[in-house]
Amino acid sequence: MATPTIPAAASEVEQLDRADILHGFATLHAQASSDVVVINSADGMRVTDSRGREFLDAGGGLWCMNVGYGRQAITDAAAAQMAKLPYFHSFGHFSNEPLIRLADRLLKLAPPGMARAIFCSSGSEANDTQIKVVRRYNNLLGRREKKKIIARLNSYHGSTVAAGSLSGLPMMHESFDLPIPGILHTLSTDYLRRPAHIRSPEQFTQYLVDGLTQLIEAEGPHTIAAFLAEPITGTGGVLVPPPGYFREVKRVLDHYDILLIADEVITGFGRTGSWFASPGLELKPDLMTVAKGLTSGYFPMSASLLSAKVADVLYADRSSHAMFAHGFTSSGHPVGAVIANANLDILEREDLPGNAARVGTYLLERLRERFDGHPLVGEIRGKGLLIGIELDADPAVRRPFAEYPKVSSLLSKACFAERLLVRGGHDRTMAALAPPLIATRADADEIVARLGRAIDRVTGEVKSAGLSA
Ligand SMILES: Cc1ncc(COP(=O)(O)O)c(C=O)c1O
Repeated sequence: MATPTIPAAASEVEQLDRADILHGFATLHAQASSDVVVINSADGMRVTDSRGREFLDAGGGLWCMNVGYGRQAITDAAAAQMAKLPYFHSFGHFSNEPLIRLADRLLKLAPPGMARAIFCSSGSEANDTQIKVVRRYNNLLGRREKKKIIARLNSYHGSTVAAGSLSGLPMMHESFDLPIPGILHTLSTDYLRRPAHIRSPEQFTQYLVDGLTQLIEAEGPHTIAAFLAEPITGTGGVLVPPPGYFREVKRVLDHYDILLIADEVITGFGRTGSWFASPGLELKPDLMTVAKGLTSGYFPMSASLLSAKVADVLYADRSSHAMFAHGFTSSGHPVGAVIANANLDILEREDLPGNAARVGTYLLERLRERFDGHPLVGEIRGKGLLIGIELDADPAVRRPFAEYPKVSSLLSKACFAERLLVRGGHDRTMAALAPPLIATRADADEIVARLGRAIDRVTGEVKSAGLSA
């Protein structure tokens, strides 16, 4: 087969990229020889690169493209706001009307009890903000030792120094001297990789809750300030909690007076088939982090939401240090706020959470049919349009690949060859799906067809390379 020629302009920008940009989550030594995919345009579910290749974006960018690409209403709202007021800050007593409308709307949409919003630009910043809120809360209550935060293994909460510490992925810690002191990790809801003696999801819940209790007891409950969790773990493997998990966790946290922070950065704004994933999982947060789907990636914007329980303590401070000395230049950006409002209009008007529930159920069923008895598919799990397909060397005994990075690389290449963009797994071989919530059944069929061909190809390659041994 003849190698397709690369347009000269595309080749030039690819070279410049290789020479100039250090990409996050890239293997740097391989950069000089690896492909650069320069995405130039997008519409609906699809993105197109500088070589003219069109991809079905089943990863929703980075799990954030909820309303789909090319929404004119968002572009128009942003352009009008740019012309009227392109920027102003929200420190001290300054505000702007789009932001005020957004905050009001957000607090009404959020699970019951959320009383205040702090705006930031990224999910990482919003989680960092939660740490500071929790510290200040306990300082004001005179509990100077109650500062540690428990997150979970396999979680992803961002990549700043603090949020990267919260993330439970060793590769994010190893060469950056993380985690910082005061961040602990407990067991993850990874049912596929459960210990051999666990026989049922209910038993698994008990095992996880016991693990959390033991950690709290070992550290001293008076030192633990908060527990942070994604309702459904996203980047760390699309891990759905076993039944009753958050109800039981909350019981333990209440017993020790520990706050619960829900990181709804991926799961928020319809992704799992409802506005937020927490209520359906009996997760009752004291604090909640949102980002991504808040603007569907059209603008970098996030928020830390505070319940009245926490906010009231902060607002009662009359000391000489009462100023909340925290915030960012772009916090509460007016253009971001109109974009978020236009995005929420679309989610509401088109009932995209409902569509995510319906098409997500359909997609999950089609995937389970397509891969029924497949020699490499270990588990298919998820909720709404957040689905993970994990591969195993031997699904019958839940044996992962010894050389999972190699198999993961084959899988991502095979999906790419099918013009299908998916998210991968970190210490596992998987295809994670988080397509735009506008997906139709036909789109779901297309995802299954392309992923099916990709996984079949990987199966042949794994066999011939002896990687399932
Ligand atoms: C659950 C969760 N929390 C936080 C973050 C960090 O968000 P950001 O990349 O905007 O800093 C992410 C990003 O993927 C995430 O998935």
